[in-house]
Amino acid sequence: MDSLAKNILSVTDKKSGVTRLTLTDFRNYAFLRINAGLHPIIITGENGSGKTNILEAVSFLTPGRGLRSSRLADIKRFTPAVIDNGYSPINNSWAVAATVCKNGEDFEIGTAVENIQKEDEDETSNYNKRIVKIDGQKSSSQVELGKYLSAIWLTPQMDRLFRGGSQPRRSFLDRLVYAFDNEHAKRTANFEHLYKQWYQLIKTTNGHADRMWLSGIEENMATTGVAIAAARREQIARLNRFIENEPDDVFPNVTLELDGTIEKMLDSMPAVDVEDYYMSKLAQERKNILYNDSIDGVNRTDFKVFYKKKRMPAELCSTGEQKSLLINIILAQTKCQILYQGFSPILLLDEIAAHLDDGKREALLCKIRDLGLQAWITSTNPELFVTLKNNADFFEVKNNLVIQK
Ligand SMILES: Nc1ncnc2c1ncn2[C@@H]1O[C@H](COP(=O)(O)OP(=O)(O)O)[C@@H](O)[C@H]1O
Ligand SMILES: [Mg+2]
Repeated sequence: MDSLAKNILSVTDKKSGVTRLTLTDFRNYAFLRINAGLHPIIITGENGSGKTNILEAVSFLTPGRGLRSSRLADIKRFTPAVIDNGYSPINNSWAVAATVCKNGEDFEIGTAVENIQKEDEDETSNYNKRIVKIDGQKSSSQVELGKYLSAIWLTPQMDRLFRGGSQPRRSFLDRLVYAFDNEHAKRTANFEHLYKQWYQLIKTTNGHADRMWLSGIEENMATTGVAIAAARREQIARLNRFIENEPDDVFPNVTLELDGTIEKMLDSMPAVDVEDYYMSKLAQERKNILYNDSIDGVNRTDFKVFYKKKRMPAELCSTGEQKSLLINIILAQTKCQILYQGFSPILLLDEIAAHLDDGKREALLCKIRDLGLQAWITSTNPELFVTLKNNADFFEVKNNLVIQK
C-alpha cells in the first residue's frame, strides 16, 4: 500500500457524516427522521416520491442554497390549502436538523427558516429568516456549518454542466474551493452584492453617481475579485497536482484550467498590480454597464475541463464520458479533502446510475466503500446496488414516508 493510500485510510478510519436527519415541513415531508450509518445510504422510490428532496435537505447542512439552488420560499411544505391560497404561505418555516459525526465526534447542527414578526408603531409585518444552529447555539453565519460537515454533490442537471453557460461551472468550482477556504463563500457572496450595488448606483443616477462613492465600491470589488481569483487558482493547482499522481483508470483523469482575465493576469503579475488594473478597468466600464450588464471579471470566469489522455475538451466528450470526468474531479476533491482537511466529505449522488454503464457504476460503488465514505445515493432501482448489500443502509420512499429495508 502506498503512503497516500495509508494516509487516506488513517483518516477515513475515523468516519464522518450525518447519523441522524430530521426534517420538519421540508418539501413533501411534514416530519421525517432517518437514522443513518456512516456508509452508503441507498434511497429508492418512484419518480416524484421525494428522493432528491432528502438529498437537498442534507445539502442545506452545508453553506449555500442547497443542491437545487432553490428559493427559500419554495421549500416550505405546500399543502392543498396553501396552494389554493396562491402558493404564498405567510409562514414559511421549515427546518433540517442533524446529528453529524466528524472523525468520531458528534455535533448537533441545523438550519431553518423562521417566520419573524416585526412590530412597528402602527403595523405588524412578517418576514422569513434563515438561521443556523450549532450545538443548540444560534450561529451568526452559514459558513460555520462547513466546519462540521462538507458535502459534494452530483445531480442529473450536472450531466449538462460542460455544455451550457459558464455560471453553473463557476458555482461548481467555487464550491470545491469553499471546502478548503471557508472565506471563499463570503467573498463570492460579497462580490455578487457589490456588483449589484455598483450596477444599481450607475443605473439609477444614469452614470452621474458620486465618483468617490463609485470608486469605493470598485476598490472593494477589485480586492474581493482578486482574492476570489487567487483562491480558485490555488484549488485548480491543488487538484491538478493531485490527479497527476493518480492512476488513470475507470474514471479518466482530467486536466483543469481557468479561463478568466483576472486569473490569467495572476500568472505573471503580483496581486496588488492586478487589483489596480481591475479597479481602473471597472472605472472605465462605468458607461458600458448601462448597455452590457455583465462586465468582464471574476464574474465571467469559466472553468475548463479536459479529458487528459485524449486532450479533449469535456464539452466534446460523450454524455457518459462527461459524467466519468465529473466523477474523476469529485473523487480527487474527496481525497484531497481527506488528506489536507483531515475529514471526509459526504457524497450526495442523485440518480447516479444514469449514463453510467454497469462496470463504471460498480467501480464507483467500490471506490466509495473502500474510501469509507458516507454517500447518499438515489435511484429508482434498488437492484443496481446489490454489491453494497452488506455495506449500506437501504431505504424506500413511499407516500411521503421513508421505510428502512
Ligand atoms: N414545497 C413543497 N411542498 C410539498 N411538496 C413539494 C414541494 N416541493 C416539491 N414537492 C414535491 O416533491 C416531489 C418531488 O420530489 P423529488 O424529491 O424531486 O422526487 P424524486 O423521488 O423523483 O427525486 C414532487 O411530487 C413535488 O410535487
Ligand atoms: Mg429525483
